Amino acid sequence: MISGAQPTLHTERLVLRPFELTDAPVVEKLAGEFAIADTTLAIPHPYPDGAAEQWISRHGPGFAAGTLAEYAITTPDGALIGDIGLFVNPSHALAELGYWVGVPFWGRGYATEAGRAILALGFGAFQLHRIQARYFIRNPSSGRVLEKLGMRREGIHRKAVRKWDRFEDVALCASLVSEWRGSAA
Ligand SMILES: CC(C)(COP(=O)(O)OP(=O)(O)OC[C@H]1O[C@@H](n2cnc3c(N)ncnc32)[C@H](O)[C@@H]1OP(=O)(O)O)[C@@H](O)C(=O)NCCC(=O)NCCS
Repeated sequence: MISGAQPTLHTERLVLRPFELTDAPVVEKLAGEFAIADTTLAIPHPYPDGAAEQWISRHGPGFAAGTLAEYAITTPDGALIGDIGLFVNPSHALAELGYWVGVPFWGRGYATEAGRAILALGFGAFQLHRIQARYFIRNPSSGRVLEKLGMRREGIHRKAVRKWDRFEDVALCASLVSEWRGSAA
């Protein structure tokens, strides 16, 4: 269990920091792109006015409760380019990883770089046993991110969720702390 303020994380090219309410307009712009909503389960389209503020205002209480670690992916010059977070289930020392990167910033390895830092936080300070992630199988770039993070694909849930008007096949990937330690060694 992690206590105190949510730490800022630094990687080679990125700074992962807690969101601030002033980030809301950029979140609405970036997450408001159809391409972001299309392959995520919970992001609506069009992105409702005011939804970003509400979403950001839930992060602090979630972190304090030990159930959420949501991070703004930013560049060292301060630009917000995406989001990454862990939804923690403390009873099982388990978390679900979720992320998006703004369309103009795709393909530069940012999701993977941010993901490595979040796995280190989860398996380190949060003392998690397992971190898992799910993605629509029609979204191979997300599958590739998880593969680059060293996650193992465990199976496919056929037509498991409804997105827009269609049911999606969803792949489940995960890393156990022992595997993560082994890969980091
Ligand atoms: C998925 C997403 C986060 C990836 O972000 P990113 O910063 O571009 O990811 P990275 O650059 O770290 O890695 C992407 C990898 O996917 C690969 N890729 C891209 N399109 C691909 C495709 N159609 N098929 C296979 N691989 C693909 C890239 O080549 C890269 O792999 P590489 O480094 O081996 O070349 C981003 O596309 C996104 O935000 N999508 C919309 C929201 C979303 O789907 N979130 C995830 C929900 S599970």
